Amino acid sequence: MKNANSIFTRTNRVVIRQFDRQDIEAFYQYRANPSIAKFQSWENYTYEDAESFVQHQMTQKPNQPGTWFQYAIALSESNQLIGDCAIHTLDSEPRIVEIGFTLAPEYQGMGYIHEALSSIFEYIFMTLNKHKIIAFTDVRNEKSIRVLERLEMRREGHLLQNYMSKGHWVDEYQYALLQSEWAAKHH
Ligand SMILES: CC(C)(COP(=O)(O)OP(=O)(O)OC[C@H]1O[C@@H](n2cnc3c(N)ncnc32)[C@H](O)[C@@H]1OP(=O)(O)O)[C@@H](O)C(=O)NCCC(=O)NCCS
Repeated sequence: MKNANSIFTRTNRVVIRQFDRQDIEAFYQYRANPSIAKFQSWENYTYEDAESFVQHQMTQKPNQPGTWFQYAIALSESNQLIGDCAIHTLDSEPRIVEIGFTLAPEYQGMGYIHEALSSIFEYIFMTLNKHKIIAFTDVRNEKSIRVLERLEMRREGHLLQNYMSKGHWVDEYQYALLQSEWAAKHH
């Protein structure tokens, strides 16, 4: 178990912490799964890809303008990696962040990502003091759309052919949530 400094936020069931060497195998298993990769940019993800990705993340700091930081989502009880949430701090406006998220297939359908993201949103707005969270999703990605709408993010746009995925241009929805909206509901 990592020391408490590597934990950014937590809920009853999950901790949001920095990636660690112990996560490589689980991270590889879900990234290499075609059902997880379906609406994502990567294809044929290898163990070596996972190894270098995790090792790189172990050296990174969150909240650096112009970079993505990948937060590990692990079970509180066992510290087992079950997914991740990436946060992109925009270079042009670091008070706005973009999020992306993944949950290993065997942990889907139990509300884990909703629980993790609720806590991450609180951390983004109240600890990092960000102004706005945005997210983009492939319009065919129904599970992701349900996650974003359950968090009461607002669909602000339908962006035609906005993303090149596996050789095809795909449409995306853009979602957003303001700090003021979050605070009005939760504080
Ligand atoms: C997007 C993704 C994370 C969603 O995972 P998920 O398991 O559906 O989301 P949650 O963990 O919030 O679980 C929600 C489901 O659990 C159910 N559930 C069961 N127990 C629950 C509980 N205690 N609390 C809340 N929900 C619960 C909900 O009813 C919901 O089911 P529904 O969507 O059929 O209504 C997952 O599909 C994924 O990793 N996809 C691949 C990567 C990807 O495309 N990411 C999006 C990029 S933006």
